[in-house]
Amino acid sequence: MSRLGTETAFEVLLKARALEAQGRSIVHLEIGEPDFDTPQNVIDAAKNALDNGFTHYGPAAGLPEARAAVAAYMNKTRGYDFYDADNVVITPGGKPIMFFGMMAVLDEGDEVIYPNPGFPIYESVIRFLGSVPVPLQLKEENEFRLDVADLEALITPKTRMVIINTPQNPTGGILTHDDLQKIAELAVKHDLIVLSDEIYSQVVYGDFHHTSIAKFPGMYERTMILDGFSKTFAMTGWRLGYGLFPKDIAKLVAKLQTNCTSCTSSFSQIAGIEALDDRTLPRVNEFLVEFERRRDVIVDRLNEIPGFRCIKPHGAFYVFPNITGTGMTSAEMEHYLLNEAGVACLSGTAFGAYGEGFIRFSYANSIENIEEAMRRVKAAIEKRL
Ligand SMILES: Cc1ncc(COP(=O)(O)O)c(C=O)c1O
Repeated sequence: MSRLGTETAFEVLLKARALEAQGRSIVHLEIGEPDFDTPQNVIDAAKNALDNGFTHYGPAAGLPEARAAVAAYMNKTRGYDFYDADNVVITPGGKPIMFFGMMAVLDEGDEVIYPNPGFPIYESVIRFLGSVPVPLQLKEENEFRLDVADLEALITPKTRMVIINTPQNPTGGILTHDDLQKIAELAVKHDLIVLSDEIYSQVVYGDFHHTSIAKFPGMYERTMILDGFSKTFAMTGWRLGYGLFPKDIAKLVAKLQTNCTSCTSSFSQIAGIEALDDRTLPRVNEFLVEFERRRDVIVDRLNEIPGFRCIKPHGAFYVFPNITGTGMTSAEMEHYLLNEAGVACLSGTAFGAYGEGFIRFSYANSIENIEEAMRRVKAAIEKRL
């Protein structure tokens, strides 16, 4: 158990709630979840599903109609033509795909290259399985895209897997078509599996768009895709996600699910089919327009704070400002802003050692709250000068 890590976002949330219980006002910019309600057509579909008997166990890999809907949605949104229901496993949230996917293919001693700063559960699961975590630094000067030359330099005969995440948590960075093509070429050359975390695939701004690594030559048979409903459709609490795998690996992942949760909630899966329908698109587009407005506000405000510097990310709903100009460490800043300014954010080191010098704000909050938070942060920093 000592090898297992955690996600400190939930710990900061607890501290913030404790301060609120003492009467303090806190603006929450720590948790990575849309503040919007789930689209109404999806809620209605769940209610109908409950009335229509979707209250029983289902198959471990997911209901056949839900697996088929996911495969069709992925083919449509990513421009593939090769996935069908047998490639899909539906899970309670996207997160189990990390655990099950890695458990299905990794052995003790296998090296896994993963983004750092990055989602903390990657390193946690790698260590838990007795595999060897090999951090790949994402650099601000490269807009937090991984540098393919750095990746190549970390590959050894023991490397078994590379984890990529685009758009990325915590930086909002996105990998370009060219980056992905080069990563794919390396994966094929060195016979590596790629775990591609695409949970923010639909949260991309402006002229940028999401590309999936599975579509490059030789990648179908070595790619495990993680995606889900949490971020795109504001469905974090439904616990509904999925993975796409080569069919032999999908069977292993379903077997792990049989041993763990048996299956994902049946009525949630029926609601998920509705979410993937074009009927939900207008609402999802509204979310995106709103996120983009918030991103522009928070980036502008952060760049007005002495000692802060923030690049404009092209995806997800996080900003990752550089705070080295303040002379404080990331952990000190997280603590200071929570206690002095009443603004909850996360230390960059919550996402790995290369997060030092940065903090993460989630801008999945109203413009009004973001403006208030930034006013408070600016005042608290100016007080220290
Ligand atoms: C990069 C990344 N992958 C996966 C997940 C897990 O998503 P879910 O809530 O669907 O399990 C998250 C959630 O924060 C995330 O940021």
